[in-house]
Amino acid sequence: MVIYKATDYKDMSRKAANIISAQVIMKPNCVLGLATGSTPIGTYDQLVEWYQKGDLDFSAVTSVNLDEYKGLSHDSDQSYYYFMHKHLFDRVNINPDQTHVPNGMEPDSAVECQRYEDLIHSLGGVDLQLLGLGNNGHIGFNEPEEAFETVTHCVNLTQSTIDANARFFATKEEVPTQAYTMGIKTIMQAKKILVVVNGEGKADIVKRAFFGPVTPSVPASILQMHNDVTLVGDAAALSKINL
Ligand code: GLP
Repeated sequence: MVIYKATDYKDMSRKAANIISAQVIMKPNCVLGLATGSTPIGTYDQLVEWYQKGDLDFSAVTSVNLDEYKGLSHDSDQSYYYFMHKHLFDRVNINPDQTHVPNGMEPDSAVECQRYEDLIHSLGGVDLQLLGLGNNGHIGFNEPEEAFETVTHCVNLTQSTIDANARFFATKEEVPTQAYTMGIKTIMQAKKILVVVNGEGKADIVKRAFFGPVTPSVPASILQMHNDVTLVGDAAALSKINL
């Protein structure tokens, strides 16, 4: 694993955007695995800035997102579909037909998860997967104790994840309790993985995930077994590990 220590959030975002840019420049028709949450927003802003300057071209890129809340439609401002359009897709020249997010409105979990998994395989897999890190070590929506071998599936969100995400909703009752997510196996099949973390609130989980035992109780710990992981964190998030 390669670890880049950034001075602050802006620097973390710039370093992460540099890695994504390199991927897009080296392979213009790459498949990017994308993530939501607050952490990658600055990374997307930086990519947009470089696109506007004429330094980046997303026209041949395909994207697949990690996850989506079950039951939220595209126009719900808390859906990950909406998030991705707001923060990236509507601001760069990516072809909307080549952007993919699990369909939260498909009520049949088995149908949607199989469709999404098949889609990823039909694209030839993910070249670079961007990940944030949940407070309890979740990646995508793979909560603690998920089997490492899972592919795209429907999860019941833990109370800690529901509580953490409640800040984005008007009331806690509105936070969906289920989501579709790429599984750990799906994520591990990406050729390269880029993890972004910031803030001292993530310092403990960064240490447990990347320097503790590999265990399903910390889903991100499996990333220690991947042969091409880059972790970019600000000083606060990396404050509990020795570099
Ligand atoms: C959500 C997303 C994850 C994300 C996590 C952390 O649960 N499904 O993909 O990594 O939040 O979010 P944040 O970056 O806001 O801490």
